[in-house]
Amino acid sequence: PLANRFLGLTSQEKLLAERLNIERCFIVRGDRTAGDAVTKQLGTILNDALAKLLPEGNNIIVVMGGSTMASVAAQLTPELSVSRKLTFVPGRGGIGESVNKQANSVAATMAKRTHGEARPLYIPEQLSESTYHPLLNEPTVKPVLELIKHAGVAIHGIGNAGVMARRRGVNEEISNYLRKAKAVGEAFGSFYNKEGRILYQVHRIGLQLNDVQHFNHVFAVASGHDKAQAIESYMKIAPHQTILITDEGAANVILKK
Ligand code: F6P
Repeated sequence: PLANRFLGLTSQEKLLAERLNIERCFIVRGDRTAGDAVTKQLGTILNDALAKLLPEGNNIIVVMGGSTMASVAAQLTPELSVSRKLTFVPGRGGIGESVNKQANSVAATMAKRTHGEARPLYIPEQLSESTYHPLLNEPTVKPVLELIKHAGVAIHGIGNAGVMARRRGVNEEISNYLRKAKAVGEAFGSFYNKEGRILYQVHRIGLQLNDVQHFNHVFAVASGHDKAQAIESYMKIAPHQTILITDEGAANVILKK
């Protein structure tokens, strides 16, 4: 089924990729918000796509956090490591989100599932400028940041702005600003509006939206009709090589417009 699924692009998937102006889309049945078992399917598709697209040999894969990422991680399989050496690196330091949603945990789960390796990055999410800079040269941090820079693949989630502002614990001033400026979504720590203009960037160490522009493959995994606007607007700033893995809940809203 793997090859079939990958080659057999449905007309809706084709339409959505054209509409969003990205490389490709996968749409699974159902809507996450209706309690459908969507995330499991998203993970299976991600596994199949990685199996198909990753080159042989060493692969450095940068992963972000979030609940979607945490659940798709559990669907990866050891077959991905046949003739490959996979190293999963968290894109962010991650202390700030609850433990199971942190990029570090996602990387560890993916490594375990695929019999690959994971490199941890432990840095609190929101640091002052003066604390942040010296950390970049720390012997436990620097090599991991180098790996992130030389990665070819990223896998990330997309969230709603309001939800993510709360989860990230941004201060009141910023969350008021985001509301007034009509932020709709967040990815890679960047909050953006409907037009895809970046309004605010959480100041953190690790992978930023700009960094992925030159990656070979960027997988965005996000689903549910409630995320339709966040997904659609993010794709205005996403690298063209983005592969979106989503559900009918989100896809139908975007395509109806
Ligand atoms: O916090 C990491 C992150 O990937 C965000 O960039 C994104 O908005 C969010 O998680 C998505 O989280 P969830 O899958 O739980 O909606």
